[in-house]
Amino acid sequence: LDDPTADPFAIAAKAAARIADLTGVERHDIALTLGSGWGRAAELIGETTHTIAATDVPGFSKPALEGHVGTLRSVLLPSGKRALVIGARTHYYEGHGVRRVVHSVRTAAAAGATTMVLTNGAGGIKEHWAPGTPVLISDHINLTADSPLEGATFIDLTDLYSRRLRDLAHSIAPGLDEGVYCQFRGPHYETPAEVQMAKTIGGHIVGMSTALEAIAARQSGMEVLGMSLITNLAAGIQESPLSHAEVIEAGREAEPVISGLLAKIVAAL
Ligand code: 6GU
Repeated sequence: LDDPTADPFAIAAKAAARIADLTGVERHDIALTLGSGWGRAAELIGETTHTIAATDVPGFSKPALEGHVGTLRSVLLPSGKRALVIGARTHYYEGHGVRRVVHSVRTAAAAGATTMVLTNGAGGIKEHWAPGTPVLISDHINLTADSPLEGATFIDLTDLYSRRLRDLAHSIAPGLDEGVYCQFRGPHYETPAEVQMAKTIGGHIVGMSTALEAIAARQSGMEVLGMSLITNLAAGIQESPLSHAEVIEAGREAEPVISGLLAKIVAAL
């Protein structure tokens, strides 16, 4: 994937073939990327039949961060469908390029997945969102100034975060909030002025993932469901300074509840 002349979709096809080899599962129907706080959903959605180290699959790089597990799982859902659970996110801020960032999504599509569930831990701009609040992503603002698309690929992003899937989530979890996710490059958190900018331009959630992945998922024809766990309020919205340890801890505390919620939604997909 570092070779600009290589075809990223061919590498994704190879990765999907390796996953099929290692699991004996020819086709995965749904894919989930589990961000901070969402990891336990992997155990709750069904029976994990295979766990693969991401480093055994072409195109995946080592996880950069503590709290980010580098595994792919094949999970048999109660419905008989198959889920590919991606616990190996490459973040844009790692600096390996956008092709690496979206490789797991393209691999999931090549493995047959038609639904992509993207989750993350993020900062909240709405004061009433207590840490631990799950929020459905209704749309995004991509502030990375980058795109996973190359060349003249003018794809439509209307309804990127599927209205149909959001309605389904609401039917399972009445009262779930929605918000517009702003992807910043990171890895630093935003300044209070940047958070005010995000608010002014229509954002409600700030984070460092998801938008680029959602674009790639749409390019591959997948239906996208996005959810953020608000681990903290964004800079300037909360008075205290932000710390990564605090973000991880908030995720850990909320994990049982939000993972259970996600498992219920996945069962209905
Ligand atoms: Cl406040 N900002 C960003 N970009 N990512 C976060 C966050 C804030 N809190 C958790 N993840």
